[in-house]
Amino acid sequence: MEPWVSDLLAWYRSRERPMPWRGHPDPYAVWVSEIMLQQTQVETVRPYFTRFLAAFPDIPALAAAEDEPLLKAWEGLGYYTRVRNLRKAAQLLMAEHGGTLPRTVEGLRALPGVGDYTAAAIASICFGLPVPVVDGNVARVFARRNLLDGDFHKPAPRRALADWLTPHIAASGAPAAFNQAMMDLGAQVCTPRNPRCEDCPLRPTCQAAEQGRQADFPAPPPAKALPERTGAALLLRDARGRLLLAKHPGDRLLAGFWELPDPDALPFPKPKRTRRLGLYRQTFTHFRLTLEIRAAKPLPDSPALPEGFCWADDPAALPLTTAARKILAAHAASTPAH
Ligand code: ADE
Ligand code: SF4
Repeated sequence: MEPWVSDLLAWYRSRERPMPWRGHPDPYAVWVSEIMLQQTQVETVRPYFTRFLAAFPDIPALAAAEDEPLLKAWEGLGYYTRVRNLRKAAQLLMAEHGGTLPRTVEGLRALPGVGDYTAAAIASICFGLPVPVVDGNVARVFARRNLLDGDFHKPAPRRALADWLTPHIAASGAPAAFNQAMMDLGAQVCTPRNPRCEDCPLRPTCQAAEQGRQADFPAPPPAKALPERTGAALLLRDARGRLLLAKHPGDRLLAGFWELPDPDALPFPKPKRTRRLGLYRQTFTHFRLTLEIRAAKPLPDSPALPEGFCWADDPAALPLTTAARKILAAHAASTPAH
């Protein structure tokens, strides 16, 4: 056992964080707790766990549960598929497994509602099997300690981390404590922002803490490919040197802001000749925008404008979209008033 493993176990044992399911002798109770903990915080789960076990004390009772008392016991916990799967699994265990939980990861994994994480949690906590739980919390701890730069939303880096952890959890001789220590560490010490490294049992061997690079790990997932939108923006002045602006059409984000008009949507005939000044690119939350920036010679007159357009003496005094502000900053000089 490497020193960090014994430090982790000593840390776990030294702190009192009792939970009604920790140390519970009945695997059924641990299973129920792990299902409740899948999407829900420890503090929320506590009272539900106690009430649920009082109402459905064992697998036969759960398998025979009626809809109404079952949903009542879960009411407010949310993600109700969890409790339906729980009963379905209990019925399956009654029919095919003598009303007991399987004692292997594969057997547990085959139950409705039990994924890799929950199977590993039950197998280690109830049956002492050396299978690591790997979720976002655990990945964060070891991405930092070991400077791992994988994307832990993907299965391959998760599997690689589980494989790396397995000999350590086996050598610990205490899979239940090892896994629950990792859960606590990720939830309470090695937090996403401002990890409390000074209180961390892994501090002496943590490479991110050593290098002051906690914030660099885990690496954020690579940017998603966003849909591309294209358009054009026209710089056009009237005879008095005022700039034509258009009000952004109804859109929650930019409604009411002024922007450079689309040359194909002018309220008067499009100037015959425009010249291309370049491209403007901007990334929004849900798309990427590319605008072709064009300029035209000033008009010989000042056409009257309908609602939604204006001739601006001083565009900077109006609320402008970011695109308009940046394009003007870069190209205003290219649109001489005369
Ligand atoms: N989250 C999931 N399982 C847990 C457990 N056994 N203890 C604390 N938090 C958990
Ligand atoms: Fe996380 Fe800091 Fe502990 Fe490293 S030392 S595992 S960054 S809390």
